[in-house]
Amino acid sequence: MNRFLALLVGLTVLAGLVVGVGCKKQSAPGSEKIKIGFIVKQPEEPWFQNEWKFADQAAQQYGFELIKIGAMDGDKTLAAIDSLAANGAKGFVICTPDVKLGPAIARKADSHGLKLISVDDRFEKADGSPMEDVHYLGISARKIGQAVGGHLYEQMQARKWDPAETAVCVVTFDELETARERTEGAIEVLIEKGFPKERIFRTPEKKAEVEAAIDATNSLLTQHPEVKRWLVCSMNDNSVLGAIRALEGRGFNADTVIGIGINGTDCINEFQRDKPTGFWGSMLLSAKQHGFQTAEMMYQWIVEGVEPPLDTRTTGVLITRDTYQQIFKEQGLAE
Ligand code: GLA
Repeated sequence: MNRFLALLVGLTVLAGLVVGVGCKKQSAPGSEKIKIGFIVKQPEEPWFQNEWKFADQAAQQYGFELIKIGAMDGDKTLAAIDSLAANGAKGFVICTPDVKLGPAIARKADSHGLKLISVDDRFEKADGSPMEDVHYLGISARKIGQAVGGHLYEQMQARKWDPAETAVCVVTFDELETARERTEGAIEVLIEKGFPKERIFRTPEKKAEVEAAIDATNSLLTQHPEVKRWLVCSMNDNSVLGAIRALEGRGFNADTVIGIGINGTDCINEFQRDKPTGFWGSMLLSAKQHGFQTAEMMYQWIVEGVEPPLDTRTTGVLITRDTYQQIFKEQGLAE
């Protein structure tokens, strides 16, 4: 009898445990994976694919779910935030397609109680000033631009080009603070080093894309058939690549062009070509910090209540066709 009782008690406890565990699962949605969104403006650009790749690594390491969304305009961006909220996300990281959407994005995030970190392109208020109360991680744009200017000048000297026959093609995208800072930084250093100011030509692109940069450069080249050699800079690799393609269309090549991009992620095919082109180098930025660290900061903010710093800036390092493989290896970026 005693044994029967003991068995009964044992079974009851076991059943209670099973029910208890079952109940716990249902009543504690907190045990589900945390969901975090990562919205980018140009999902086709290798830079952003890299950010996503590294954010995925953070998701794996911390065990959260990363929801990646490409949003190329304002409507898509606001709809993406609604859908993140509907899916139970707790926060998101975003590189907005337009910095002027900043206030609308922040309002929408707030209305859903979603935490928000902006990456790459800093939100702007209606008057054009930065939204300093929105958490941001971006590059030290002016410094990286200055490095571009310095390397361009050095390379021109190393090739003993006559500055009187050389000009600078600056493909600009002044709507975007981080872009403006990069190109103005490059121009500033070129002038400081003694490059003739009157032969530094700015030409605006409509979008930060190869095709738009080709158009911008073509219109500049039409105006300056007298220039024999060109230095090229812009806000990122794709914009410089566009300028290089336009220059090639008019017979310029690696002997007559020195171009330096920014990102270091969108120029690998270019470096892998059989012959060098006018695209000489790039400032390699840290897609890992931009992707992994922002996702990590978001996770720790949600789970541990650790608020990230309001403004985090990252640096860059020069890579060329000759050095990129070694530098990728050193930085653990090689496939
Ligand atoms: C901007 C550019 C990208 C990349 C990032 C880096 O968003 O469009 O190509 O340079 O900045 O922060």
